[in-house]
Amino acid sequence: MSVHKEIKRITTHILQEMKNRGEKIAILTAYDYSMATVVDSGGVDVILVGDSASMVMAGFETTLPITLDQMIYHATSVVRGTKRALVVVDLPFGSYQGNSKEALNSAIRIMKESGAHAVKLEGGEEIAESVQRIVAAGIPVMGHLGLTPQSIYKFGTYTVRAKEQAEADKLKTDIKVLEAAGCFSVVLEKIPATLAAEVTLSIHIPTIGIGAGNGCDGQVLVVNDMIGLTKGFTPRFLRQYLNLFDEINNAVGSYVKDVKSGCFPNEKEQY
Ligand code: KIV
Repeated sequence: MSVHKEIKRITTHILQEMKNRGEKIAILTAYDYSMATVVDSGGVDVILVGDSASMVMAGFETTLPITLDQMIYHATSVVRGTKRALVVVDLPFGSYQGNSKEALNSAIRIMKESGAHAVKLEGGEEIAESVQRIVAAGIPVMGHLGLTPQSIYKFGTYTVRAKEQAEADKLKTDIKVLEAAGCFSVVLEKIPATLAAEVTLSIHIPTIGIGAGNGCDGQVLVVNDMIGLTKGFTPRFLRQYLNLFDEINNAVGSYVKDVKSGCFPNEKEQY
């Protein structure tokens, strides 16, 4: 008798098949159990436990402060809330840039302690050795090029990257290096749509765009932005499907009014 359960979860192989047959890949972030259950049942293919948690969950200005332990906490909660989506977890700033052994150890901790299915690293050629080492240990790796928020103090702004030829050329080289190093997919953040479309055609693995146009093999958004929880954040690339900040704000206002006026709870809402 087989001890293996039937696996219905999305795998990196399924994502590759989706690219091959031209089916787009839908990705959202999630950072906690409740949101993961909704996002998973909504049908996304991948849930990214992004280090954007540093901003949207913890209120920091950048992704830099979040720690490996905190990422593992978020990832563990998300994995518990997920049945179908592949769960990818960001290696946070400072947990892999030192050397490839440090990168491997951080990736192993994420996989072992959270039960996630893959990790994501920012950077090109400079992280190729780390990617190779992590992939050799059996851990799928997603790359991340273009605007890489862990380098925000090097860039200085969150504006569109690779508009200049030299940076576009480096990105074209980097994506090939990441593919050769064994990445199963690469996120392209905030680069011109024409460049994203060109590099998508130049490699075999799927590209996932955020602010990179429609020529990518899939799209990712930060879920809190997409449901309108991050008030005042309205970059051009963001399609906001709900206005949850105002909805929740109104609901909270009604609750406060009902408590203050004494009309909550009523007779049916008590024992
Ligand atoms: O941390 C994150 O949410 C990300 C996405 C924006 C791609 O890296």
